Amino acid sequence: MIDDTLPLLMKGYAWLPDARRRNGEGPLWTRLAGRRAVALHGTDAVHWFYDERNVRRQDALPGPLLDTLFGRGAVHTLDGEAHRTRKAMFLTALREPRAVGELADLAAVEWDRAAERWADREEIVLFDETAEVLTRAVCAWAGVALPEGRDGARRTAEDLVAMVDGFATAGPRHFRARRARKRQEARIADLVTAERTRAAEAGSHTGADVSGADSGVLAAVARHRDSDGSLLDPHTAAVEVLNVVRPTVAVTWFLAFAAHAQHRWPAQRTRLVAGGAEEALAFAQEVRRFYPFAPFVAGLATDEAHWQGEKVPAGTMVLLDLYGLNHDEKLWPDPYVFDPDRFLGRSPDRDTLVPQGGGDPATGHRCPGEDVTVALLATLAPRLARLSYDVPDQDLGIALSRIPARPRSKVVLRNTQGAQ
Ligand code: HEM
Repeated sequence: MIDDTLPLLMKGYAWLPDARRRNGEGPLWTRLAGRRAVALHGTDAVHWFYDERNVRRQDALPGPLLDTLFGRGAVHTLDGEAHRTRKAMFLTALREPRAVGELADLAAVEWDRAAERWADREEIVLFDETAEVLTRAVCAWAGVALPEGRDGARRTAEDLVAMVDGFATAGPRHFRARRARKRQEARIADLVTAERTRAAEAGSHTGADVSGADSGVLAAVARHRDSDGSLLDPHTAAVEVLNVVRPTVAVTWFLAFAAHAQHRWPAQRTRLVAGGAEEALAFAQEVRRFYPFAPFVAGLATDEAHWQGEKVPAGTMVLLDLYGLNHDEKLWPDPYVFDPDRFLGRSPDRDTLVPQGGGDPATGHRCPGEDVTVALLATLAPRLARLSYDVPDQDLGIALSRIPARPRSKVVLRNTQGAQ
């Protein structure tokens, strides 16, 4: 059996869709990094993949991915009861509409403040500016203090972006990501320890913590108990706080894609300016479907795994082709046309729109941050549309071979002026 590591590295997002065009819809048996692997496609595969009887996550993710993107001991690596108990903590913090609305409001305030500063500058790099806007918003919302000093938010944003940008490469981006993770884990572990001391002192003075400071993700993680009843050690707690803060800042990638769409199809921009919440929501969903972000998800076959009657040997790496599913012409007519109307007044099907995984987030590993992602995009994309700016000559191309993909220039804007 051939090893597909090189084609994956060369083609990135196009690797699995290309292989499917050549080999048809069935499972693609291959090897990755010397390990037997099978890639699956289709909505049936989504149901199968997210059934714990078929696929487990423990030991599924390679060390370099954990040391950059997710962190050691992360919820991504748990199965069964341990996973469900840890996951509940995320779902409680991330899916309550009022909490999601508060985060979106904070992001709007930070964006409007930043837009005032941009007006004094000849040129901005939208990607970097958005990362800082989102860092300020999510850290305030989560109760994660930013380092002191004028550039505390910018440096934190750079670290959070680096962790995402460097997970799928062996080059300098990867080592930047490792250093960024080490730095942020150490800093946030100290914040968790300080939060526990504060909560214990508040409790001993009053018999209960009534200070009000115990809200927010940092405090929730600090007091969370795992399925064995124990508190998370400070390092694991820091990993999980980062599993909220980092992907929230990763919405920057989607906002850069939103800018790309508004520039490439100006009618989309006009619609966002003229439209309301429905148009903004539909636009946000189409950005998530159309543009490349997570190429696939991976797990390991259990002892019991059979796919469509065929035994999948235990320990086989199982891949689910997310990017391919979001561009499957059987599920999405004209999949390579950017068309928010697909979502206008319609909720997307759970296992068809899968940019952030499939299945049920409560029982499986589907992303618990979809509401946050959609709310942030639907809040900021219309603000971007209303901003007046020039787009100087630049390379806005998006190479599918680079994971994670982004417009090459990171979207340079000139002469930005407040709302139109
Ligand atoms: C899991 C994508 C935003 C928190 C995942 C998974 C994907 C994903 C593909 C894995 C699903 C699986 O393993 O089956 C994305 C993308 C985002 C995003 C593309 C856009 C920027 C967020 C946000 C949050 C978040 C905003 C939190 C505020 C998580 C967590 C998990 C996860 C905690 C682990 C869930 C588990 O293992 O049970 N995400 N996500 N993500 N995401 Fe997101």
